[in-house]
Amino acid sequence: MKELLAKRAAEFVRDGYVVGLGSGSTAKAFIEELARVVRERSIEVTLVATSADSEMKAVEVGLGRFLAPIWAIDRIDLAVDGADEVTKDRLLIKGGGGALVREKIVDYRASELVIIAESHKLVERAPSRHPIPIEVIPAAWRLVAKDLEKRWGGRAELRTCKCGGKLGPLVTDNGNYVLDWTPPGPAYPELEDEIKAIPGVVDNGIFAKRRDAVILLADERGVFAL
Ligand code: A5P
Repeated sequence: MKELLAKRAAEFVRDGYVVGLGSGSTAKAFIEELARVVRERSIEVTLVATSADSEMKAVEVGLGRFLAPIWAIDRIDLAVDGADEVTKDRLLIKGGGGALVREKIVDYRASELVIIAESHKLVERAPSRHPIPIEVIPAAWRLVAKDLEKRWGGRAELRTCKCGGKLGPLVTDNGNYVLDWTPPGPAYPELEDEIKAIPGVVDNGIFAKRRDAVILLADERGVFAL
């Protein structure tokens, strides 16, 4: 299903485009497909990655020469990204892979945003199965966790790293920590900015401001648009 989604998303790519590469396994399927499309159509693109992981994937599939740092580009024509949860109202929860800050920088600036996700990511209300990830400055993590629990309730936990032999907190590509907050109720659009206003918060995984995104979902019958 990820391959089908990747193929559909690749149809949005045009010669000369600056393309934002999302993060996660579905976005990686798109990066693979993009490599094929760029080769077959002999097109030129500029690519900006939302994580070290996606950047490495791009290099691995032969797209390295197209990569540019985010700060060096003046526009993003298209971004293709995954999501952890999607509601019918087009609110997204992202950041399961800890890449939400750069994803938001790129996804929010893209002229066109295409979200690709398997249909089980569509939920009645979000968050349903995932907490809301919140990237925080390390020195502030405990204070922010307390602020969240005091103001809204629920539980905020520091994400720890289960990779290799690393002990302690997960450190993002930006050198920060991630809190996974399970709120007592559903997220609402204003919550995105309310969380962001807490001192020490870099950004959070509520993406409520791209209601115009093309959202492509896939199940065993094929790809359909939300
Ligand atoms: C990365 O931080 C996330 O926002 C991803 O977009 C999200 O976790 C989707 O990943 P999968 O495509 O692997 O489900």
